[in-house]
Amino acid sequence: MTEITAPAKKKIIFSGIQPSGILTLGNYIGALRNWVKLQDDPEYDCIYCVVDLHALTVRQNPAELRRRCVETLALFIACGLDPEKNIMYCQSHVSGHSELGWLLGCFTYMGELQRMTQFKDKSAKHADNINAGLFTYPVLMAADILLYGTDLVPIGADQKQHLEIARDIALRFNNIYGDVFTVPEAYMGKAGARIMSITDPTRKMSKSDEPNSYIAILDKPEDIRRKLKRAVTDSDGIIRYDRENKPGVSNLLDILAAITGEDTDALVARFEGKGYGVLKDEVAEAVIAELAPVQERYYKILADKPFLEKVMQQNAERAGKMAFKMMSKVHKKLGLAPYKL
Ligand code: TRP
Repeated sequence: MTEITAPAKKKIIFSGIQPSGILTLGNYIGALRNWVKLQDDPEYDCIYCVVDLHALTVRQNPAELRRRCVETLALFIACGLDPEKNIMYCQSHVSGHSELGWLLGCFTYMGELQRMTQFKDKSAKHADNINAGLFTYPVLMAADILLYGTDLVPIGADQKQHLEIARDIALRFNNIYGDVFTVPEAYMGKAGARIMSITDPTRKMSKSDEPNSYIAILDKPEDIRRKLKRAVTDSDGIIRYDRENKPGVSNLLDILAAITGEDTDALVARFEGKGYGVLKDEVAEAVIAELAPVQERYYKILADKPFLEKVMQQNAERAGKMAFKMMSKVHKKLGLAPYKL
């Protein structure tokens, strides 16, 4: 007798992205490019959420926030993320995020939130606006993740503590009510290069630093050339891969390797006897060529408002259906009185 096995359930990957409107070459090489590959992997279903509610923990200009949410989605699509193969939407369009956030807040301890290093950092930075949302930020993030039965969350080191608290909340809830939430894990993926700042190559490239320290996906060719010409290197003048002692040169080699697919050893051999200027020029031209089609698609998509509106609407509906199922289950488990919409 042949055994009948149920088709394996696809793993759910969820990530939240701040609607800053700026994504860097680091985001592109370290995250977005890999996400594009995942969309054709039958093992995963991927959900990418523009976290506009989280953005409200610091004061926002309404017109700008609205514009940047749309721009962030357009940039995802321009980078190659297919809005039919992935679910890409705005957090505020799915009410389950806020609702589950409240419910999970009742299963989160003050002490846990007080320990969060991001809360401490952000309250120091925004001392005039230490609001309760900043404090409960990790609860909303836990809700984002748990709402979809997420298995895997691609995150950087700075978000590890937040994922940890999401796991704790899920376990605590499950201990009381049974198997409701999937306990999420960090998704490491294939170790891509970590792209560093070009003005301080000991730090990660970040859009919150000054603009000369990063290359934005939407930077113009002349800006990319200018920024890379000024990229910090060192004074020994030899092109060699050594992250520790030559972080600037190594970062340039990593960028070039990530774009061309060559390995850094081969690059070092090819650049033997050449100066940093030659390397910088080649990196600049490679980056420009890589980003040109992304930029071209971006401006085309951004001009097509009906398309973008349709993508936002349809994806919010897809996410909303999944969220609704989870919310019904959670309501039932908690003993909230049943109600038919
Ligand atoms: N806190 C994350 C950041 O600042 C953004 C975020 C919100 C997120 N919700 C999430 C990331 C859920 C992963 C999963 O980068």
